[in-house]
Amino acid sequence: MGWSSSCCCNLFPTSSHILGARDLSKLLKNPKLPLRDALEPYMSQRTLEMHWGEHHRLYVEGLNKQLEKNDILYGHTMDELVKVTYNNGNPLPEFNNAAQVWNHDFFWESMQPGGGNMPIMGLLQQIEKDFASFNNFKEKFIEAALTLFGSGWVWLVLKRSEKRLEVVRTSNAVSPLVWDDIPIISLDMWEHAYYLDYKNDKGRYVNVFMNHLVSWNAAMGRMARAQAFVNLGEPKIPIA
Ligand SMILES: [Fe+2]
Repeated sequence: MGWSSSCCCNLFPTSSHILGARDLSKLLKNPKLPLRDALEPYMSQRTLEMHWGEHHRLYVEGLNKQLEKNDILYGHTMDELVKVTYNNGNPLPEFNNAAQVWNHDFFWESMQPGGGNMPIMGLLQQIEKDFASFNNFKEKFIEAALTLFGSGWVWLVLKRSEKRLEVVRTSNAVSPLVWDDIPIISLDMWEHAYYLDYKNDKGRYVNVFMNHLVSWNAAMGRMARAQAFVNLGEPKIPIA
C-alpha cells in the first residue's frame, strides 16, 4: 500500500509505506525542518504540529494497528481502502481511520504558502460554467462550510456522471470518494483544524482558507487528471 504523509504541498518528507508514518513524530521534533511554519500566519505552526503531528498521526497509527490484524484488506491502495471499508454505507471498523488518513493527506495538499487568489484556464472556465461566476462558487463554498452541523468536511468535487463541479459536505470521516466523486479541493471543518488559531470564529478560518491558503495549483492538477476519466467537452468518437 502506498500513501503520502505529506503536508502543505509536499513540503514535508513523505513515507512510501503506511507503517512508516510512525516516523511523523520524529520529523516534527527535528528542529532542522523549517516547514512547520510554512502556512504562517494563516495556519500556525502550533496548529500544524497538533493537527498533522498528533491528530493525523493517531489516525495513521490506529489504521496500522487494525490492518495488522486484517489480511483481507492487505494490498489495497488508500483510495481502495476507503471505498472498500465504507462497505456501501455499512462501514467496517477500519473506515474512520482509513478515510481520515486519506482526507488529511488530501487536505494538506489542498493548501500552499501564498495560496488563495483564483484558478486560471480550464478550471476557472468550468467553475464559471457550473456556478455562474467564481464569486458565486466562493460564496457557496463558504456558506456550505459555515452551515455544516458538527464535524466534517467541505469539498469541491467533479461529479462523474453529471460532468459538473459541485460543492458537497460530508459528516465526520466520510469522503466523497465513496460516492465515486472526484475531489478537487477540501476544507477540514473539524474543530481541531481551526480552534487554536481562530477559536469559534469559523467564518474567519474559512475566509482565510479561501483567500490565503487554498492551492489552485493543486486543484488545476487534479482537474487535469480527472479529465482522463470525465470528458467535459463534446465526446469525439473515433471512426472505425
Ligand atoms: Fe483534521
